Formats: sequence, C-alpha cells, structure tokens
Amino acid sequence: MGAEEGRCFRVRKYRVKGKGAILMAKEAACKIGPVVLLGPPGAGKGTQAKKIVEHYGIPQISTGDLLRENVRRGSELGKKAKAIMDRGELVPDELIYGMVAARLRQTDCQRGFILDGFPRTAAQAGWLDAFLEKELFDNEEKCPPTVVRLDVDYTQLLLRLTGRRSCPTCGRIYNVHFQPPRSDELCDVDGSKLLLRNDDREEVIRERLAAYEAQTKPVAQYYQAQGRLIPVNADRKAEEVAAEVSGVINRHAAVCAGNEVAKPE
Ligand code: AP5
Repeated sequence: MGAEEGRCFRVRKYRVKGKGAILMAKEAACKIGPVVLLGPPGAGKGTQAKKIVEHYGIPQISTGDLLRENVRRGSELGKKAKAIMDRGELVPDELIYGMVAARLRQTDCQRGFILDGFPRTAAQAGWLDAFLEKELFDNEEKCPPTVVRLDVDYTQLLLRLTGRRSCPTCGRIYNVHFQPPRSDELCDVDGSKLLLRNDDREEVIRERLAAYEAQTKPVAQYYQAQGRLIPVNADRKAEEVAAEVSGVINRHAAVCAGNEVAKPE
C-alpha cells in the first residue's frame, strides 16, 4: 500500500452536516488497520463487530460465520467442521488457515478489518502475525493488530448465549432477555423467523466455555506480552461498550496511518 493511501486524509468532497457526520466521514475514509475482537462465547464480539462495520466501513471477518456458511453449503470444509462445532470444540487450526487467508486477501481488507473469533489458539495468533508480515504489510508500513478483549461475567455469558437469536437473512443478532425483536421471534428488519444456533444448547455452551479457558486464554497472554491487549468491560450496554471500542480503534488508526485521527465527541 502506498504512502498516500496510508494517510488518514480529510474528505473535502463529502457533503455532510454537523460535527458527528464530519467525524464519521473522516473515519470512513481512514486506514483503520487490523483489529482483533477477543472474548469468550457470548461476550458480544459479533454485536460489536457489526457496529464497527457500520461506523468505519471495514469488513467483519468472523471465522464462526465463515464456518457456518461452509456447513450450510455442504463444502468439504463444512463437512469436516460440522460435528466438531456441534460438540462445541475448536475446529483444527489447519482447516482454519486457508479459509482466513483467502478472506484476508480480498481487496476490501486493505483499509483494515475486524477479526471476530480468530485467532483462537496461540498457534493461530502466531500464524496471523506471520501472514500479515508476509502478505499485507509493505516495508515502510507495519501495522500489527490492536486486540480488544471483551470481558463479561460468567452468569451473564450464559444468559446471553441461551437468549441469543439471529436472523438467517440479514445476520442481525437479538437476545430474548436483553434485545428482543419487536415482534415475537421475527426479525425487525426483514421479518424472517429468528433462529437459535445449534451450539447454543446448554451442554454445548459449557464445552465452548471450557475450550475458551483452555485454548483461547493463551491468545490473550500472547498479545499481552507484546503490549497489544486492551481489556474492555463488556458487562455494560452494547452502546457503551461500542463507544469505548471506538476510542481504541481511533487510537489504533492514528498509529497505523502515521497521522492524527479525530477523537470521539
Ligand atoms: P463463533 O461463531 O466465533 O462463536 P463464539 O466465539 O462462541 O462467539 P459467539 O458468536 O457465541 O458470541 P459473540 O461473542 O459473538 O456474542 P454475540 O455478539 O453474538 O464460533 C462458533 C464455533 O466455530 C466455535 O465453537 C468453533 O467450533 C468454531 N470456530 C470459530 N472460529 C474458530 C477458530 N478461529 N478456530 C477454531 N474453531 C473456530 O452476543 C451474544 C448474545 O448477547 C446476543 O444475543 C446479543 O444480542 C447479546 N449481547 C451482546 N452484547 C450485549 C450487551 N452489551 N448487553 C446485553 N446483551 C448483549
């Protein structure tokens, strides 16, 4: 990527009104760089990632969504992954790498991207660093990921997971306890019947939380040792969490672009 594209340039041609709109226009044109959302199942990674997509215009790369899409299509990868996911275990690293590499090579990732659910093992974290170094960073411009860990109390996680429903058409996430749809079990946006995820049954949830403790906690340690881990209290309203995450991303974007970026109002 050239120096010009790496700058967080001002967007004079945007016809916007008010401070908030100007700020959003600038953020939508900035280089954001890689952002990793880390956290246990149900912490709100998907919920926050969707807000980031809307606000910054960079893509969400959710390995869980990519795997579920493969299962739905009945691809070779999907066939291998389905039973493992239904048990709440992690899909082997070697099945994940090709899928993530293919997605990161797409052109919409050049300004930045949010990784949701990846990396999930220390080996995946090492693989990501090596991949970014080899394929995405040029010599002058290195921008290692900023890593936001969403921290949520265990009991709250259980409520979030058992209450989650999602729209099969637009992907919007609801919660029957905290963010219910206006009409019972129907999506507010397109009216589709909301679905309960296969792995949101209680016995599978326990397995997923155990996998997080054993395999994903070391990922936080990996990033903490490099001074890249930013813990965020996610036991608050989604909007409050989003405001803090935005602050983290703005600071990261400023570093990545080698320029100042507007601070949140
Ligand atoms: P994946 O799809 O990544 O699931 P997960 O990590 O278990 O996370 P979730 O999607 O369950 O939760 P979330 O943090 O996104 O929370 P959400 O925003 O939905 O992975 C599924 C499986 O795929 C894995 O078990 C594994 O088998 C496999 N896999 C995926 N990636 C892999 C990898 N890299 N390596 C190996 N295997 C991999 O929110 C949850 C609920 O809470 C929602 O109802 C929401 O409305 C609600 N909520 C969110 N925020 C708030 C808030 N602030 N207040 C109140 N409610 C809230």
